[in-house]
Amino acid sequence: MIRFAAIADVQYGDLDETIGRAYRESIQKFLICAGEISRMRPLFAMNFGDSWQSGLENALAMKELYEVAAKYGKIEWRHILGNHDFHVPDANKPDVYRFLNLEKPGYYDFQVVDEEDAENRWRFVVLNGNEISTYAAENDEERKAAKEERERRRIPVKNNALPDSYNGSLSPRQLQWLDERLAFAEKEKENAIVCSHFPLFAKSRSIDSDRAKLARIANFDVYYYNLGVSTWNGAELLEIIDRHPNVRGYFAGHLHEGSYGVRNNVAHVTFKGIVENKPYCWAAVELTKSEIIVTGYGAQPSYRLRFL
Ligand SMILES: [Fe+2]
Repeated sequence: MIRFAAIADVQYGDLDETIGRAYRESIQKFLICAGEISRMRPLFAMNFGDSWQSGLENALAMKELYEVAAKYGKIEWRHILGNHDFHVPDANKPDVYRFLNLEKPGYYDFQVVDEEDAENRWRFVVLNGNEISTYAAENDEERKAAKEERERRRIPVKNNALPDSYNGSLSPRQLQWLDERLAFAEKEKENAIVCSHFPLFAKSRSIDSDRAKLARIANFDVYYYNLGVSTWNGAELLEIIDRHPNVRGYFAGHLHEGSYGVRNNVAHVTFKGIVENKPYCWAAVELTKSEIIVTGYGAQPSYRLRFL
């Protein structure tokens, strides 16, 4: 069996609660999740990003906590870069990758094969959705390029407003890399799951938020990038995913209310964010040759996609 654990948006901070986000409580919630995950013994745990709210001290606290969870829980933790992870002083931005055991440019892939069934083969392709952004930029040149990119991605349904500044774009180089890794996976007869901090798609009824109440009257397609709340060039990203029929899942965090939707036989899962959900939330994900089974714990709902 292939089973891994998923958490999203711990967003720890030694900061007072604002807009329903209890930054300090994230420590206890994370430890509960890490304890349960450790007892289940999945192959690894994937953190979908935004580990801290902001500030170097908070970043270092979470770095240490992941190390403790890995060492004493005997679980390998893998990380995805979120926007808040770059909310550290400019001089420390290059360190963010290292804090999360990553190397620049922060995207990577790996293969998982079922020990009991060699035909149950999966490739995880992990994106860095902050690559071109104003907050992850390390110098004036990168900041200028990010501003220009944001200008190019204005949102037609919002009177051509700029997309939210706490998102970014994937570079053409990263998109090409994704295309190549998915083609390689296809050749190797692997199913693929694309992981990013930033979600792309959901069915409106799955969105558990007051803001989305109206949207629940009908169950329509929500493309987050069309609303300016996710990856600026999400349409280009989805186009690449559409070209590869071996992609079975697109998993993300970022929007704390979470969501789910199946599009083109791909399960789009946005995991609920720990900072904004009580008592806690995490998911176990099982992958078989024909199914993705997401089992939620705490506030996290469960989903099941049969793709064959
Ligand atoms: Fe985020």
